[in-house]
Amino acid sequence: METKIALVTGGNRGIGFSITQGLLNKGYQVIITSRSLDKAKQAAEKLNYLGQVIPVELDVADDNSINQALESLQQKIDKLDVLINNAGIYPDEGVNILTIERELLDKTLNTNTFGAIRMVQEFLPLLKKSQDARIVNISSGFGEIDGLSADYPSYCLSKLALNGATIMLSQALRSQQIAVNSICPGWVKTDMGGDSAPRTPEQGADTAVWLATEAPRNQTGKYWRDRKVISY
Ligand SMILES: NC(=O)c1ccc[n+]([C@@H]2O[C@H](COP(=O)([O-])OP(=O)(O)OC[C@H]3O[C@@H](n4cnc5c(N)ncnc54)[C@H](OP(=O)(O)O)[C@@H]3O)[C@@H](O)[C@H]2O)c1
Repeated sequence: METKIALVTGGNRGIGFSITQGLLNKGYQVIITSRSLDKAKQAAEKLNYLGQVIPVELDVADDNSINQALESLQQKIDKLDVLINNAGIYPDEGVNILTIERELLDKTLNTNTFGAIRMVQEFLPLLKKSQDARIVNISSGFGEIDGLSADYPSYCLSKLALNGATIMLSQALRSQQIAVNSICPGWVKTDMGGDSAPRTPEQGADTAVWLATEAPRNQTGKYWRDRKVISY
């Protein structure tokens, strides 16, 4: 059988690293991307899957970086089966919706939301060449209507808008049978989630790996936690 190929943004650590591991365990070849090529290579070395991991430098907030990554990958792959938009930042320290500056709103939306949209746009030609293309956007409970918090303004808005992008992308790609879904990983012990978080990165990665590999193909435009649909 043909090997399936996945790309995970921010795959060098945290939930993205666990998603990469989960996909490798299922026999996928995984493109592990990081803002730093060295970090991508180090992460690839940690995983014991020689030849199955392609490390690539990619900053989702920078169109030139996305284009360069795409160009270098086009020489190595002729299709993409799975795109996991996992890269994200959580930078709202000491600000709230009344005090946050435009610069921080720009930075967070640019990374967490527009980065995912631009990744889909640029990698679409490769995704269209797959027989079973799937896109998974890693969102957050902070992006749910009932989860919005005035104290995490740019992060909440970025994930709320990412969920909106999931709905719109799924509409736009339905006729091409490309599934697009959002997931909430729960509160996960990573650099972002901190030490008090109750979930392991593997638990945080589970629903994303399932949607990327095994979930029924007709499931699209939905929002998931623990393999169940939840309300936006
Ligand atoms: N941890 C939680 O409790 C939790 C809860 C809900 C949702 N999430 C979401 O899950 C995803 C992964 O979070 P995590 O907990 O694993 O966080 P993390 O440990 O902080 O890792 C974040 C990853 O995103 C990458 N990244 C940040 N900005 C980037 C950019 N501009 N371009 C490319 N990569 C970039 C980081 O790369 P560098 O190493 O280069 O910085 C890193 O690989 C995020 O979207 C986050 O919002 C996490």
